[in-house]
Amino acid sequence: MKGIILAAGMGSRLYPASLPISKILLPVYDKPMIYYPITTLLLAGIRDILIITNPKDIDNFKKVLGDGSQIGVNFSYEIQYEPKGIADSFLIAEDFIQNSPVALVLGDNIFHGFGFSSMLKEVSKRDNGATVFGYQVMDPERFGVVEFDKSGNAVSIEEKPKNPKSNYAVTGLYFYDNHVVEYAKSLKPSKRGELEITDLNKIYLEKNKLKVEILGRGFAWLDTGTFESLLQAANFVHSMEINTGMKISAIEEVAYRMGYISKERLLTLSDKYAQNGYGKYLKRIANQV
Ligand code: DAU
Repeated sequence: MKGIILAAGMGSRLYPASLPISKILLPVYDKPMIYYPITTLLLAGIRDILIITNPKDIDNFKKVLGDGSQIGVNFSYEIQYEPKGIADSFLIAEDFIQNSPVALVLGDNIFHGFGFSSMLKEVSKRDNGATVFGYQVMDPERFGVVEFDKSGNAVSIEEKPKNPKSNYAVTGLYFYDNHVVEYAKSLKPSKRGELEITDLNKIYLEKNKLKVEILGRGFAWLDTGTFESLLQAANFVHSMEINTGMKISAIEEVAYRMGYISKERLLTLSDKYAQNGYGKYLKRIANQV
């Protein structure tokens, strides 16, 4: 399975903070925001990852992440010139996807919770249909919203409805089979001029091929769209890391635990940050038996 991170937004809601650099490269506590969605894909066992950026920021992404070989994965890059919608990712990524199933994660979506890795592993095994994730929120009108019948099957999905039929938002993580490019090509721009990811999900729903996994209580899906929510996300990561003594989404650690890099490589990577807590943490993980 292949993976895409959509990170092409201009982040204008966070100006002037995100004027110098893409919002997706801003820190969420101790690491750039993109480390979190990278971790999501790595945990799903995905090592071939396309990062879609805007033209202004592509060099910064390359500077931060390189070709991925340092952590045993493969990063490639494409540009989205205009914000034509989330589903536009599949048109941009057509050559990259070829005939593979593919997962898409939005660059500003942070997931954390017990059991997430095993859920991702299960979902990534499916090669027929699509899987999205529902999360209960107080303000569903800001999101794609999924409605369920009494047996828990999804019956409708709407983008930012004025009168939401449920409190379940569809998060920015999507898994698709190899029909996704063909279906994305059939989409028409919405009223706001975008190829809507919700319209793509509706195609799968109409074919009875959309699964919705619920991320339950105790699971964190964090928003980074405003100054307040960005700070809250950083505070969440900080307090979890302090309380557990473990880092959230340290990509070097994840790559090591997934078996993509050796202990020696992790130690070498830790040297880069030897002077701070991040480097010391990587070293500690490498030296654990
Ligand atoms: O976060 C989950 C929500 O993401 C879903 O519930 C919605 O169904 C989905 O439409 C989306 O809603 P948003 O209002 O958050 O989408 P937004 O336009 O803010 O885009 C999300 C991220 O993707 C943001 O970092 C910008 C980036 N983006 C967006 C578009 C439309 C791009 O890189 N290119 C684009 O063309």
